[in-house]
Amino acid sequence: MLYEANQYIKANKDKVNSQYRLNYHLMGQCGWINDPNGFIHYKDKYHLFYQHNPYDAVPGLMYWGHAVSDDLIKWNYLPIALAPDKPYDKDGCFSGSSMEANGRLYLMYTGHVVDGGDQRETQCLAYSDDAINFAKYKGNPVISIEQIPNEASKKDFRDPRVFKRNGKYYVVIGSNDGKGKGQVLIYTSLDMLHWAFLRAVGAEKNMGNNCECPDMFRLQDRDVLIVSLQYLNEEKPYNSSVYAIGHFDESVGDFIFDRCFPLDYGFDFYAPQTTEDVSSRRIIVAWMNEWGSENPTYSLGHNWAGAMTLPREVLLKDGMLCFKPVDEIKTYRRNEFSMENIEFEGERNLDAYGDSYEIEASFDARSATEFGLKLRTGYGEETILSYNRAKKIFSFDRNKSGIGPKGEKHTEVELDDNVLTIRAFVDKCSVEVFINDGRKVMTGRIYPSKDSKGIRIFSRGACKLLSLKKWDIA
Ligand code: FRU
Repeated sequence: MLYEANQYIKANKDKVNSQYRLNYHLMGQCGWINDPNGFIHYKDKYHLFYQHNPYDAVPGLMYWGHAVSDDLIKWNYLPIALAPDKPYDKDGCFSGSSMEANGRLYLMYTGHVVDGGDQRETQCLAYSDDAINFAKYKGNPVISIEQIPNEASKKDFRDPRVFKRNGKYYVVIGSNDGKGKGQVLIYTSLDMLHWAFLRAVGAEKNMGNNCECPDMFRLQDRDVLIVSLQYLNEEKPYNSSVYAIGHFDESVGDFIFDRCFPLDYGFDFYAPQTTEDVSSRRIIVAWMNEWGSENPTYSLGHNWAGAMTLPREVLLKDGMLCFKPVDEIKTYRRNEFSMENIEFEGERNLDAYGDSYEIEASFDARSATEFGLKLRTGYGEETILSYNRAKKIFSFDRNKSGIGPKGEKHTEVELDDNVLTIRAFVDKCSVEVFINDGRKVMTGRIYPSKDSKGIRIFSRGACKLLSLKKWDIA
């Protein structure tokens, strides 16, 4: 199956339509991708695996695609790492993580099996010494259905995130309590082969009706739990990836926390995963889509769907997480465009345009009631990033962005001395907005016409553009 899938990709990767292919974000070579998996800095390279159905631009039988990078921006593809070719993973090698031990690279993933409508999920291991060819462990699964505690669903048990603390391994796994409450299960092991259940965490908090893709890590002197929630409420059925800052008590495997906050306030950010690199940066990357959302690259027959967000550094500021695109992106800046100290009112076209760029703008709100940027304008299309001063609300409006999914997302933002700073990354069919130094982030996919490349500033009431810089990213 592995060989066939790799052959299929070779034969079909040049048949994808390039119209919406991104320039500086990771995608699959063809077919469908979703969650980032096994993110790790291993032997001087970043490895990112991903949920992958190479055969069609829709979800299907899941493989693990594999890409490698020196700088988190330019990725090279490696052969598919895992195929669903064993009885215990025959309906999909679902999401999971990685770990280096004695120089070896281990992948821990979910074997997904569906028999007559009955779904069973177990945790499995694979390993490699060259980080290209992976062998599945003969004793798989390493966590079986029998090891699921009574207080947890026997069906939803997936996405193991393994980590190490003080010589012991721990794994957090997505689950629910069987009665409609999402929770995370925590197990421990000395060798990654034999696991003992410790605790179920979070069912008493509001964690949707099921948890997927948990992650846990230390940041400064705090512990952070990340988790993707299904069906948080009717308004947010999907796309609720959240974090909680708390304390992980290793002795009993408990995570003590108060509440969860969204990681991203936009449309398309799900199943994020983090890793720490040699410079001790904690880096997060997510699937830049959401379940249930329309994918024009599928409906138009472009033969691909799905992309990853820009890798972002995770920082702790005033007790909250904040996010910064990894600095490596700056080495890809070309053709600087810059403006300064412009008093304006109404709407203006900038003498700059593009479909793959970074833009950084700071506005002094003066007496403006609403102001901001319009991106990818032209042919009646525009993607609006705006700030409403009375409501203290920042909005990302993609109702007129082109074809594809629509909608408007909002988040509360406080100005700093009446100043708003926006750093946005535009790439063919995506926009990622970092507001006020990444204290809030909004991510969304957009599908404008290819010549809608204009950039505008606008304001209702007098406003001052303190500075604006734009670089093509190439
Ligand atoms: C999250 C998820 C995971 C699962 C994977 C399957 O997006 O549903 O829970 O392992 O996708 O592709």
